[in-house]
Amino acid sequence: MELAPRNCRFPPPPLLLLLLLGLSTGAIVNWPTEEGKEVWDYVTVRKDAHMFWWLYYATNPCKNFSELPLVMWLQGGPGGSSTGFGNFEEIGPLDSDLKPRRTTWLQSASLLFVDNPVGTGFSYVDKDDAYAKDLATVASDMMVLLKTFFDCHKEFQTIPFYIFSESYGGKMAAGIALELHKAIQQGTIKCNFSGVALGDSWISPVDSVLSWGPYLYSVSLLDDQGLAEVSQVAEEVLDAVNKGLYKEATQLWGQAEVIIEQNTDGVNFYNILTKNAPMSPMKSSLEFTQSHLGHLYHRHVRHLNQDSLSQLMNGPIRKKLGIIPEDCSWGGQAKNVFLNMEGDFMKPVISIVDELLEAGVNVTVYNGQLDLIVDTMGQEAWVRKLKWTELPKFNQLKWKPLYSEAKSSETSAFVKRHENLAFYWILRAGHMVPSDQGDIALKMMRLVTQQE
Ligand SMILES: *[C@@H]1O[C@H](CO)[C@@H](O)[C@H](O)[C@H]1NC(C)=O
Ligand SMILES: *[C@@H]1O[C@H](CO)[C@@H](O)[C@H](O)[C@H]1NC(C)=O
Ligand SMILES: *[C@@H]1O[C@H](CO)[C@@H](O)[C@H](O)[C@H]1NC(C)=O
Repeated sequence: MELAPRNCRFPPPPLLLLLLLGLSTGAIVNWPTEEGKEVWDYVTVRKDAHMFWWLYYATNPCKNFSELPLVMWLQGGPGGSSTGFGNFEEIGPLDSDLKPRRTTWLQSASLLFVDNPVGTGFSYVDKDDAYAKDLATVASDMMVLLKTFFDCHKEFQTIPFYIFSESYGGKMAAGIALELHKAIQQGTIKCNFSGVALGDSWISPVDSVLSWGPYLYSVSLLDDQGLAEVSQVAEEVLDAVNKGLYKEATQLWGQAEVIIEQNTDGVNFYNILTKNAPMSPMKSSLEFTQSHLGHLYHRHVRHLNQDSLSQLMNGPIRKKLGIIPEDCSWGGQAKNVFLNMEGDFMKPVISIVDELLEAGVNVTVYNGQLDLIVDTMGQEAWVRKLKWTELPKFNQLKWKPLYSEAKSSETSAFVKRHENLAFYWILRAGHMVPSDQGDIALKMMRLVTQQE
């Protein structure tokens, strides 16, 4: 591992960039004029493994960035790009049309997007054996990145640092948070780690699968026949997980999704009030798309790397960044990232959340009401399995309603908090909470980071 600090590199100033862009593309790209300070770079986290990060300093009219927290955002998949999807589709300053986002988290925090695991987004490996195959590698790679980042950006060492995540990113965030907590205690990383937030997170996959049937049945998306079919395959997934047959569990999980699709006329796994868009023509070979993993990859990673986002990232963004190697295309290795994690996919990490809670790390769980793939019932099921000694007290509490605006009477969320665990139920949101309900997502982030 390369833990020695390396030279810190900074991008050219925005005006020069604008000129470069105009000249090189021939197109007019209207970057907002009040662009805040941004920096980005690669860190070689292991031999042949290069991780890309992109930092935006908070832009708040009344506060210096040093008075606001630093939030790292981790996308799911595995293989979904934080610098692309999280940034342009969820919380960054610009949307994917490069128009300012009203609910950007940048008004209340500096934002660090990292394309993780290696091979995701603009991150890349030189050799096929360098992809991460398990959570331990994902976490140790991230420790190298964070050590380099905080060594190079001392101004962030004392600022409260939070990790926010989505989907599979939540599973990675849990593992990363625990390693970071240890590294800080050992003195190898200097940062003011203040909490981890797990959004619609893949903490206990089997608890999600087991709740799919009852959840869909309760909202008129399965009949008795369908419920029986879904419950049966869910039991098979449980059986495989209990026997430690994780690759088989991944395959059965895919089968469960197909059965749901057939019985619900194609419900969208990311928001039950909508339907799955028909699959767009794939670039990959037919053989791959017909394999069970190919099918899963297309369902769960493709939507994070849509064609329009890919054009943006591989077009104007790549030119703006200026440091992306020529043979590295954004999202080009995502498929391999996903395939290499096959054996890890269905493993639960409830025990890691327990370790975080016992260690005193602030843990927030937040979940969209309309998400199916990681439905709220499944989240509540694994929370009930925590061995954390304070859990009975957490369970005894009643939740409180939250409103995005002080004057509004429309309930946007419910929250329950005890000691270092908080749970947010986000209403009218699917899997991508900040994209679906930007106002309450921003408010939640401000609450979690103790700004409200
Ligand atoms: C913002 O904070 C940084 C770091 O503490 C400091 O160097 C800088 O001068 C501050 N800027 C303003 C405008 O106060
Ligand atoms: C971490 O941040 C909090 C809140 O700003 C501050 O009170 C505390 O001193 C910081 N701790 C360190 C070790 O920098
Ligand atoms: C955890 O959150 C509580 C408030 O909810 C806060 O008082 C405490 O300082 C936080 N702990 C850390 C380590 O940031």
